[in-house]
Amino acid sequence: MLRELDRLQIARVSAHPLSDNTGVWLRDPDGNVVQIVVATKVSPDGPALQAPPHLHPAGRGAAPSRSAAGRVRPRCLSHVLLFSSDVPRSVRFYGEVLGLRLSDQSGELIAFMHGAHGSDHHLLAFVKSDGPGYHHSSWHVASIDDVGIGREHMAACGYVRGWGVGRHVIGSNYFAYVQDPWGSFAEFSYDIDFIPADVDWKPGDYPAEDSFYVWGPQPPDYFTVNHEIAE
Ligand SMILES: [Fe+2]
Repeated sequence: MLRELDRLQIARVSAHPLSDNTGVWLRDPDGNVVQIVVATKVSPDGPALQAPPHLHPAGRGAAPSRSAAGRVRPRCLSHVLLFSSDVPRSVRFYGEVLGLRLSDQSGELIAFMHGAHGSDHHLLAFVKSDGPGYHHSSWHVASIDDVGIGREHMAACGYVRGWGVGRHVIGSNYFAYVQDPWGSFAEFSYDIDFIPADVDWKPGDYPAEDSFYVWGPQPPDYFTVNHEIAE
């Protein structure tokens, strides 16, 4: 790996304020600092656990009462979407350096990458902007109910800005995004596609206007703003 970094002429970052002196530290082409650590695979080896299907016998109501709906607790991180000043360049870098593989893309506007050892449809994704930035983190929940209940809970706590509930085309997941105080988002995600290690996934190139979401409300104007470079 170190030889590969040398071959690609990627400089290591030394004495970064965040460094704990473990692993290898470097910068991606947009200047984001990346730490690479040898570790056991911790991402799921199969599709995220789902809530057991509700029994729904005829002649009986299936929905819980509102008071029994409960709190939603995300199960694990699914993926992160970063703004990139050059999406194909970011895809090349993370493919060569981390071995991530292209899952799907929409021209040079957005690209999604998965892990070679089996992962969600995307662990890391990039969307075009004028500079680097952090768009969202995405968190697995167990059901479409949990997507809606989680979104509603956040709104009740004062975080009303966001987008959803809806369903993405690329990745297939049901989503609800909540904007945080810094302008980026956290996503409640249910039922994202999973790409096993032994599946030869053929990346698709989707037209932008037909790949963003299957259904859902119109995304708000602020959904695509890179707040790290905006005035
Ligand atoms: Fe997402």
